[in-house]
Order: sequence, then C-alpha cells, then structure tokens
Amino acid sequence: MSKTVVIKGGKIINHDGELRADVRIENEIVVEVGANLKGDVELDASGCIVTSGFVDLHAHLREPGKEEAETIETGSRAGALGGYTALVAMPNTDPPQDSVAVIDFVREQGKRAGLVDVIPSGCITLGRQGETLAPMAELAQAGVNFFTDDGFGVQDASLMRRALEYARGLGVTLAQHCEVAELTKGAVMSECQCCTDLGLPGWPAIAEELMVFRDIELVRITGATMHFLHLSTARSVDLVRAAKRDGLPITAEVTPHHLSLTQELLASYDSVYKVNPPLRSNDDIRALKIGLLDGTIDAIATDHAPHPRRDKEMSLDMAPPGMLGLETALGVVLAFGDLEIKDVVALLSWNPARIAKIDNAHGRPIAVSEPANICIFDPELSWSVDLQRLASKSINSPYVGRTLRGKVRHTIFRGTPTVIDGQAQK
Ligand code: DOR
Repeated sequence: MSKTVVIKGGKIINHDGELRADVRIENEIVVEVGANLKGDVELDASGCIVTSGFVDLHAHLREPGKEEAETIETGSRAGALGGYTALVAMPNTDPPQDSVAVIDFVREQGKRAGLVDVIPSGCITLGRQGETLAPMAELAQAGVNFFTDDGFGVQDASLMRRALEYARGLGVTLAQHCEVAELTKGAVMSECQCCTDLGLPGWPAIAEELMVFRDIELVRITGATMHFLHLSTARSVDLVRAAKRDGLPITAEVTPHHLSLTQELLASYDSVYKVNPPLRSNDDIRALKIGLLDGTIDAIATDHAPHPRRDKEMSLDMAPPGMLGLETALGVVLAFGDLEIKDVVALLSWNPARIAKIDNAHGRPIAVSEPANICIFDPELSWSVDLQRLASKSINSPYVGRTLRGKVRHTIFRGTPTVIDGQAQK
C-alpha cells in the first residue's frame, strides 16, 4: 500500500468556496478533509493555498525530435515545479504528432516520466503542412481530443471548414494558432511605432484577427467546438466576446507573457522577447485582462517553448520564436495579472481541465473520493528566476531580473508528491 500523505494547515480553494483544513490522501484519492490529520508524509501548507493541480493547454515538450531543447521528462518536471499535474503536448515535434505511433510514443514517455499526465494533441493536417487532413478519426480513436497545427495556422479556409466538419462528427476540439501567414512574412515584432523606429519588420494585429474572424464564422456554419490559442490583441478579444454572446462553442486562452511583457522590450534586440504571436501594447494587455475578468478568455496557457541557447543566440530575424513558461506561469500571473486568487485557479486549472476534457481527473474539488492531483502554493512569496536552477533543458526565460509573486511549494500527482518544498522529487 502506498504511503499516506497529509497536507497540513493550508487554505483549500474549491469551486464552491474556501475552507481551512488538512487533507489526507491514500492510494491516489483524497480520503479525508478535516482537522489535525496524521499521515506517513506530512506536507506543511501554512500560508498556502491548496487547490487542484494546474492544467496547461499549451506545452511544447519537443520530444520526439528536439530533445536538445526539452524532453518529455524535463518538461514534465518543469511542469510539476510550476504546479501542473497535466500538460497538453503540442504536436510540432519531429516527426509531428499526426500518427497513432507518435501519439502513443508521447503518451508512453509521459507515463515513463510519471510526473504529470501528458496529453498528446494531434495535428489537424498531415505534417502540419496545411495541405491534407491528418487521420483525425484514427487519432480520435486513439484517444486524441485536441487537434492543432500550432506554430502554424491552417491557412486554407476550405480545409479548415472540412476539419471542423470532421471534428464535430468526432466530438473533438480544434485549436487554432491564428496567423494569416501572408501578413507576417519576415515579421519579428508587433507592428507599431516602436518597430518602425527600430527598423524591424512588423507583425500586424490583423494577421491574428482575420483568422479569428474567419474561424468564428466557420464554427457558426459547422457547429464544431473550437479553441483559440494564445490570443494577443484587443480586437481578437472583442471578436471572441461577440461570438460567445451568439452562443458559439468557442473557448480561448492567453499566455502569461502576453499579460506581462510589451513590444517595447524588443528595443533591446534580445531574441528572448521574440515570440509568436509577438508581444503587444499596453492597450492590448488591458483588453486581455478585461477578457479574463468577464469570461471571454477561459484559460491561461503557457505556450512553453524551449529553444537551445545556440538557436536563440542567432540574430533577431533568424532566432526561433518562443519562451519558457511552465516554471514561471503562476508567479507571473499573480504578479502581473490583476486577478483574484480564485480566478487564477479557475484559469490555470478548472477551466483548462474542462477544455481538454480531462475534468474527470484534473481540476477537481479537494474533497473526499476525488483524485489527488493537487497544487499547494504560497500566493505571496516573491522570487526571481535563477537560470541555473530551472528544470527545463533550455534557458530562454524572459523573466530573469523580474520579481514574480507566488510560488509552488508542493505538487501532488496521483497521490504522490512530485514536488516538496519547491524541490522536484525525481
Ligand atoms: O512562440 C512560439 N513558439 N509560438 C508558437 O506558436 C510555437 C512555439 C514553438 O514551437 O517554438
């Protein structure tokens, strides 16, 4: 029989309210919530929030193919340290996640690492080439229910329409990376006065908004469920708000970096700030935050995008876009998101669990008989990133030298602590 774990002295935040109580876990399940509980392993949660483990809808784990940047094991460890108990693995691997063999491989590597549930997403198109649909039915049969070509948007409207029709029949969700490629050729930063001054090619907001608009209309005629990845502009939020008002089955996410960093940072010509979609303006940040508060945006997802130092050291036009996110998401959101703690938990755990359709095991209340996927965090602790101590294999974090607020103390995955006192357990 596995060891009994007790979480002592924390404040539980559940969907229906808060309470101060200890939590006892046995065999992967919460067995008691009450006062003065005892166990084989006792985790101090004083000053901490105890809530369901976080779920990331958007993690690039790079395996197979780019293990130099990250592996499923190192990415899972980074996730556990960030309070995550489930990660949706993005499909832009090499080979891409467009066959059952690769999906099974990713899932198995996730199980082998045993630190979080790794949920493989599937490609919408074969090889993410945007030309032919991936074998969506076969992938759905193999348990995939989240499809995306992330890194690219599906450019061909007729193909996207067909994908949505299949998705509706299969009962799966399509997640779009909204970028009209013709409008972003060679672009490295948001189109703004600053980019003109710097002489850098601009990335117009309309490149995102046109695809958001197109896909909302395609959802309207197909009835399929659609999720918008990493929205970054004020107008995108407006479009999604109106679509939701019309009752369309649409959800959307934003990243911690689009809530906290602005386009002017590119004036340093430091490629750590190059990301897709690009960092935007303060007005956009304000609109994204309003979207979070009024329910237009359902989730905060990291877009954790590790890249080897060698690649990020290339000139701004050549360096790949992307930043690390898993280990800093909570600290960034609490420091910069202007959100109540309960909203943060909803956006990092409950809502993404529902969108990924894993809310039978994640995003659950802390209550008797519920699965023990739990995050325990200190909401006040100030800290800053130490690149030497990141669990990720890459170091492209834009938060070095910035003070974050809120840190994970312990994470429990399937009843076993994966992180104790901020230290990964394996
Ligand atoms: O910045 C990004 N990096 N955005 C994406 O959509 C893809 C990601 C990556 O894979 O590096």
